[in-house]
Amino acid sequence: MRTLDDLLAEGVSGRRVLVRADLNVPLRHTEESVTVTDDGRIRAVLPTIRALAEAGAHVVVCSHLGRPKGAPDPKYSLAPVAARFSELLGAPVAFATDTVGESADAVTASLAAGEVALLENLRFNAGETSKDDAQRGEFAVKLARYGEAYVDDAFGAVHRKHASVYDVPKLLPHFAGGLVVRELDTLSTLTSDPKRPYVVVLGGAKVSDKLGVINNLLPKVDALLIGGGMCFTLLAAQGHGVGDSLLEADQIDTCKQLLAEAGAKIVLPTDVVVAAELSATAETRVVGVDAIGAGDKGLDIGPETARAFAGKLAGAATVFWNGPMGVFEYEPFAAGTKAVAEAVAGAGFSVVGGGDSAAAVRALGVDEASFSHISTGGGASLEYLEGKILPGVAALEA
Ligand code: 3PG
Ligand code: MG
Repeated sequence: MRTLDDLLAEGVSGRRVLVRADLNVPLRHTEESVTVTDDGRIRAVLPTIRALAEAGAHVVVCSHLGRPKGAPDPKYSLAPVAARFSELLGAPVAFATDTVGESADAVTASLAAGEVALLENLRFNAGETSKDDAQRGEFAVKLARYGEAYVDDAFGAVHRKHASVYDVPKLLPHFAGGLVVRELDTLSTLTSDPKRPYVVVLGGAKVSDKLGVINNLLPKVDALLIGGGMCFTLLAAQGHGVGDSLLEADQIDTCKQLLAEAGAKIVLPTDVVVAAELSATAETRVVGVDAIGAGDKGLDIGPETARAFAGKLAGAATVFWNGPMGVFEYEPFAAGTKAVAEAVAGAGFSVVGGGDSAAAVRALGVDEASFSHISTGGGASLEYLEGKILPGVAALEA
């Protein structure tokens, strides 16, 4: 795989470089304004953008945001992201109001060496995500006009077989950006030769989303701690009543089998925080997992579980954490995730899987610098750890 360093060594002065970034960041919409509520993904790609701009490239950045349906939709405009991007970069970012149309043509044509442009949301074009190779290919040809070289630094999207990720690199000399290189290096240590004890913590809503990664990691880890909404299906598989908690009834048999095979490696909560409803002012109780009442919703791991998880994590040399332990966005259900985040931060080599867990770290005020690595890819890091081939990585390797 050729990398950004190889491209910089070739020299990019005066050359147009198309950069695929993952600027899919959370936004808050109010009547007056739209603001970026977590700019972690923008900051993560800045070194690549700066390196190219300082080397005199005409830098054309493209990204998706959310899941619009293949046509322009103002809710998913990258315009507010361009504004934050420019602030963080400390330089103007010229924004094109379309992706491959008149505005993009004009903005990219007027870009001077060392300047940066951002195209409007890739997914405003049906070709970006199309399952039809020809339709994707056609869109890729239009996009590829904006670069003489292509850099993929969108780690969060490498698991997508999309035009900007999979087809454009077939058309242009292609290079992995610094973020993609760092993410892959880090994740490979989790699957090849992790220092022991190696502990994985998983949370999030659905156990069905995590079965692939659980099955692939179980033989490699010393312990797998499970909290979050997904633990209730596993608790139900153990025969506990889970009341009104999240439950994937169709996964109970699979979970029974999983627990039988995993033995003591899988560690489940012994207590949970329950409430009658999910709200910021909910009245909460802590109950043992054998005492969840019919009307109880389990919304966080309990304090005894948090202590037990933290104990396992304290002695770990390698930790991977993906998925919150509870509904941390609501103060009454944030303690479990906060305790786990702090314990993960204290482990030897600590990796936070992207998405919600990365957002939780920042929202709960845990120092980002205390982790060895915070991934920018949620789905991408999980699919990597499942052992799947990532289309974007395969395209860079070809
Ligand atoms: C993410 O947020 O996980 C990435 O940006 C990929 O987005 P997607 O799941 O909509 O493809
Ligand atoms: Mg996602």
